[in-house]
Amino acid sequence: MRVLVAGDRGYIGAVMVPFLRGQGFEVGGLDSGLYEGCDLLGGPEAIGERAPRDLRDVTAAELQGYDAVVCLAALSNDPLGNLDKAATYSVNLDGTLNLARAAKDAGIERFLFASSCSLYGAAGSEAVTEEAELFPVTAYGETKALAEQELSKLADDNFSPTYLRNATAYGASTRLRLDIVVNNLTAIAMTSGQVRLESDGTPWRPLVHIEDISRAFQAVLEAPRETIHDEAFNVGRAEDVVQVRDIAEMVRESVPGSTLSIADGAGPDLRNYKVDFGKLDDTFPELELQWSVRKGVDELYDAYRRHGLTLDDFNSAQFVRLRRIQQLLDAGLVDNRLRRSTDEQFPGPKELGR
Ligand SMILES: NC(=O)c1ccc[n+]([C@@H]2O[C@H](COP(=O)([O-])OP(=O)(O)OC[C@H]3O[C@@H](n4cnc5c(N)ncnc54)[C@H](O)[C@@H]3O)[C@@H](O)[C@H]2O)c1
Repeated sequence: MRVLVAGDRGYIGAVMVPFLRGQGFEVGGLDSGLYEGCDLLGGPEAIGERAPRDLRDVTAAELQGYDAVVCLAALSNDPLGNLDKAATYSVNLDGTLNLARAAKDAGIERFLFASSCSLYGAAGSEAVTEEAELFPVTAYGETKALAEQELSKLADDNFSPTYLRNATAYGASTRLRLDIVVNNLTAIAMTSGQVRLESDGTPWRPLVHIEDISRAFQAVLEAPRETIHDEAFNVGRAEDVVQVRDIAEMVRESVPGSTLSIADGAGPDLRNYKVDFGKLDDTFPELELQWSVRKGVDELYDAYRRHGLTLDDFNSAQFVRLRRIQQLLDAGLVDNRLRRSTDEQFPGPKELGR
């Protein structure tokens, strides 16, 4: 099977591409290259020589020959949505739909959309299933909910979109992100000696390792079409729906010499939800998600040590998406919708001074 991974040069893509190749898929990539040079341990392997490409401009002709499209490309977190809501809508909604329409026009039957559990927003205390109403509390969450709705309108006998609502990811990637909770707490613990919580630690978080996300995508790619046609799946493990203070405790135990602290006056934050993963388990009985948060913390600590992560790295554009985007905006390399102003590869974060 030939699969195009859009957003292959990002945090999850850098792990999913070699994973799928290892499982026998032929994989192509498409990415606007926002994070070139934002590398941990040498960065991701290149997939051939190719120019940066924006998913808002892709045409059916470019997609000929693929059997499936995986859409990871996005402005991928809440702070980026706060920076400029219109940019998040442009990439995550208009871009996703353009890619999907091009795929459909090219006769590609499967379209796997990387959605997010954040579309459940402030969902209350019950674990939410795929049937739950959506209450996104951020522009990012809104775009994921709207993209699912619009993709669903494209579903027909020749086109099967599937919505993989990933839990918050963790794990080592050569395109590391430090703005997600497990990666973040492990990095702070290693570089400062403190596991520092900004909230009171009570919020619940569903978590999933990026290799296990890749496994779930593989399962959808290989499933009979009728089981995945226009279906949403929460992606994660029941065992890894944990409270932030539990994550902090695991990090403290794994990072030698670190201590736990809670910021003065910290309260709970808005994003607090539990997720039910029963539909994924029932639909794909063969699918075995293999990582636990504790194992992921150990993996991250080892990768950070090998890289020699320092406090400076932690505050730089290298691993924090928002800072990198700000750097590209300040240098005039992208416009306010994050469209590139040049076809040349972008300078890395250090070359741009931070
Ligand atoms: N990381 C998580 O915790 C998590 C959780 C749930 C869902 N997701 C979803 O999974 C997907 C991948 O997440 P990630 O953490 O790898 O994000 P990331 O920011 O690391 O990677 C996104 C990639 O998309 C590319 N991109 C951005 N705009 C583009 C455009 N206009 N055209 C082409 N490429 C573009 C970027 O250059 C980058 O390489 C996203 O859709 C995200 O919303 C992530």
